[in-house]
Amino acid sequence: MEFAKRLNRLPPYLFVEINRRIVEVRAQGKDIVDFGIGDPDLPTPSHIIERMCQAAHDPVNHRYPETGGLPELRQAIAEWYGRRFGVELDPAKEVLPLIGSKEGIGHMALCFIEPGDLALVPDPGYPPFSLGTILAGGEPYFMPLKEENDFLPDFEVIPDDVADKAKLMWLNYPNNPTGAIADLDFFDKAVHFAQQHGLAICHDAPYTEIAFDGYRAPSFMQMPGAKNIGVEFHSLSKTYHMTGWRIGMVVGNADMVNALFKVKSNLDSGVAQAIQHAAVEALRGSQEHIARHNAIFQGRRDKLVKVLNEVGLRARMPKATFYVWAKIPPGFTSIDFAKKLLDEIGIAVTPGTGYGKEGEGYIRFSLTISDDRLEEGVNRLSSWHGRRT
Ligand SMILES: Cc1ncc(COP(=O)(O)O)c(C=O)c1O
Repeated sequence: MEFAKRLNRLPPYLFVEINRRIVEVRAQGKDIVDFGIGDPDLPTPSHIIERMCQAAHDPVNHRYPETGGLPELRQAIAEWYGRRFGVELDPAKEVLPLIGSKEGIGHMALCFIEPGDLALVPDPGYPPFSLGTILAGGEPYFMPLKEENDFLPDFEVIPDDVADKAKLMWLNYPNNPTGAIADLDFFDKAVHFAQQHGLAICHDAPYTEIAFDGYRAPSFMQMPGAKNIGVEFHSLSKTYHMTGWRIGMVVGNADMVNALFKVKSNLDSGVAQAIQHAAVEALRGSQEHIARHNAIFQGRRDKLVKVLNEVGLRARMPKATFYVWAKIPPGFTSIDFAKKLLDEIGIAVTPGTGYGKEGEGYIRFSLTISDDRLEEGVNRLSSWHGRRT
């Protein structure tokens, strides 16, 4: 049996070692507080599940869906973008439901990248941006997100020949893993940079609704000109706590949406229809849970960030996302430090290098664990620090 060489081009999975260690520590009967996974612990609101159950009983929804999704869902997505961001979308041409945004992100690389082509990718960044590029035969060109630039890429340091050669630029705000945010001025710069170099932009925005202290994240699609050169990926996963149901969307440039439709219609058969009906209910129904859930995440964020700074793991207070990006003390790699936290106090975090080499020196905490477990984790960090000083 001979596997395709592209599989060998995928970088080694950096979490293997730490995951193996977690399994070992658990097997020893130790209790682990797991800040690793970015998957909401709070349930999908019940009116959405009710609608899904109802739709699941209707035999119409037992059959293959269309890749393009139900017209009613595309309409509901366009309405949601209109209400939330003041962005007008043509539901027939500028909206496409996805089997989770990750699926669309991975497939979008196939629409643009030929062997040897470049895509500009943030580092640290959500791994499918670079892995999709590699699987399509291309090369990611990493744009460092530095703390001194508020974790925004500096377009001016990208060499002209690289920007001219690149086909696509990936951006993601509010950002995983750093928790950083971007304003419309930044998106304006991105549009100009892309126009100057003939690039398409894919903005990934699943965290716009997870925001604190009154912050309202903008959409890239609000930028005049954005629709000429780009799309935005969004998701119901985080806003409606629907990670397990797998539903997201891409909106924006009609040619890019159509290119993705072409790839997908040859590879998948769309989103299960009962889930599409649930998504319509999510987008059109009560949004009351969003503020309530954000207040819960905000309380967790405040507790965790305070303690991290007290124990010398410097962390900014994120205005959005449910991630806290903390700087580790000098003298450790982020993997070694993650192992140390696990071995010494049973706390699991994600090492920053899982998101790229610029993640070295950082670890990521996710706020998607129950208040009790968070409290336990915070107490362990405090008493650990007390013992060490
Ligand atoms: C930045 C980013 N984009 C996309 C996704 C994928 O979301 P979905 O569940 O819609 O595939 C995630 C999930 O963690 C993410 O962090």
